[in-house]
Amino acid sequence: MNIVTVPTEPIAGQKPGTSGLRKKTQVFMQRHYLENFVQAIFDALGGAAGKTFVIGGDGRYFNDRAIQVILRMAAANGAARCIVGQGGILSTPAASHLIRLNATDGGIVLSASHNPGGPDEDFGIKFNTPNGGPAPEGVTAAIHAAANGIREYRIVEAQDIDLARIGAQSVGRMAVEVVDPVADYADLMETLFDFAAIRAMIAGGFRIRFDAMCAVTGPYGVEILENRLGAPRGTVVNRQPLPDFGGMHPDPNPVWAKMLMDEMWGADAPDFGAASDGDGDRNMVLGRETYVSPSDSLAVIAANAHLAPGYAGGLAGVARSMPTSGAVDLVAAALGIPCFETPTGWKFFGNLMDAGRVTLCGEESFGTGSDHVREKDGLWAVLMWLNILAARGASVAEVLEDHFSRHGRNYYSRHDFEALDAASAETMLAALAASLPDLPGTEWHGQTVAAADSFAYTDPVDGSLTENQGLRIVFGNGARIVLRLSGTGTSGATLRLYLERFVPGPDGLGEDPQTALAPVIAAAHDLADLHGHTGRTAPDVIT
Ligand code: G1P
Ligand code: ZN
Repeated sequence: MNIVTVPTEPIAGQKPGTSGLRKKTQVFMQRHYLENFVQAIFDALGGAAGKTFVIGGDGRYFNDRAIQVILRMAAANGAARCIVGQGGILSTPAASHLIRLNATDGGIVLSASHNPGGPDEDFGIKFNTPNGGPAPEGVTAAIHAAANGIREYRIVEAQDIDLARIGAQSVGRMAVEVVDPVADYADLMETLFDFAAIRAMIAGGFRIRFDAMCAVTGPYGVEILENRLGAPRGTVVNRQPLPDFGGMHPDPNPVWAKMLMDEMWGADAPDFGAASDGDGDRNMVLGRETYVSPSDSLAVIAANAHLAPGYAGGLAGVARSMPTSGAVDLVAAALGIPCFETPTGWKFFGNLMDAGRVTLCGEESFGTGSDHVREKDGLWAVLMWLNILAARGASVAEVLEDHFSRHGRNYYSRHDFEALDAASAETMLAALAASLPDLPGTEWHGQTVAAADSFAYTDPVDGSLTENQGLRIVFGNGARIVLRLSGTGTSGATLRLYLERFVPGPDGLGEDPQTALAPVIAAAHDLADLHGHTGRTAPDVIT
């Protein structure tokens, strides 16, 4: 085995964000770029000698090439074994499961999640720890520090392995096992949900449309929904993972999954619609002419999870990211279980799940999951909903209406302002942050500010403090505004404006959220002087 030690220099900007390092694909393809970061991961771990890693990605452009490089580097750094998904494919939740199932030393996941893929689009890489979850802040900081001090990386001279062939291969002295990316994950789902009940519901004529958006969940959806649950062939659309996701923006929301939205609002719509993102951790759930907001989905799942066999014993607790609506808090209070509020990003849920303090977690950004893995899990949420519908014999709209009548409705929306000038966006938030202490008592569009702060989080398990996680303005009537900048973008700045207003027990499904939130939206624009700082009056994406 010929190990080559390549001299290199630190490359600016190798700082992991909300979910790993994300850059333009061309940046990752620059000389030494990927190699530096991978070596930094191994160095931050104290070396790779004797270790086992899971490696896979969402199939986007450069996924397969990056995997061959990572394998050669793992071998050169002395790793004992790598488990790789066939074709280089592993959904993020399936990677998390394999890391745990095989008691490995962690995994390297290649994905830029819901960002478009292709030579001129986005790529990403992140390290997951042995619990299966995204590396916590301490580890990402160590990786960043290692990248900043890098002088050389190690790589073996070897042929590519055959990613298409399941079974044992090797790179140098390192064993490589190419595995079916779907089988273990599908088996796990069968242990959590009542497949017999879902199968019977489908056999009885219940119709599903699952849009895999030409991304990683195609093979998972086909195996689970069509092969194991008996849904007709064609239930899963856009089922072939493509390097450029067929030109789609693989983000499961009403804007980007428009084809699915049109079908669910069209004549002869299916009973249930769902979509997942590039790497399979996000989900959107729809009924016939019914949209379920992610925050509501989390609350409904919390209230009904006991109907699924894997959760029949109840939930230890729930957690949501701070900008996610308080709908799940109301369910937790009704159930008498704890509810935690964490910063944005799945990595903040890991400690709570590892400590057994929460079973269920969710984010407003179409992320829901449980302690079955340590990532959010799109297909898991779809199966949970199908299990709930099968157990209750009700439609999506009926389940939602019943939920709102019991717990009230947290009207909710997120407005994204994309490609802002980064300096202007930062100035705007700095100005708003400086004004926070003076806001209580002031009135904005008929609403009086009750509290305003910059969100800081002390992890109840390890005591670590994370500050500056978003500006919060809460009004006396319970309405809430949150502002923060995205940590996953690859160019300019994206402002995320989160808007919420609670109404007890509306009639039916209530009114359109944008209408219900109009005074909150107006207050947010004025409070931040959004137009003055950014020149924008309307968001680019509303979810
Ligand atoms: C976004 C979402 C966040 C999610 C992350 C990774 O991060 O808002 O909830 O955890 O993607 O999927 P952001 O771009 O807001 O930093
Ligand atoms: Zn994702």
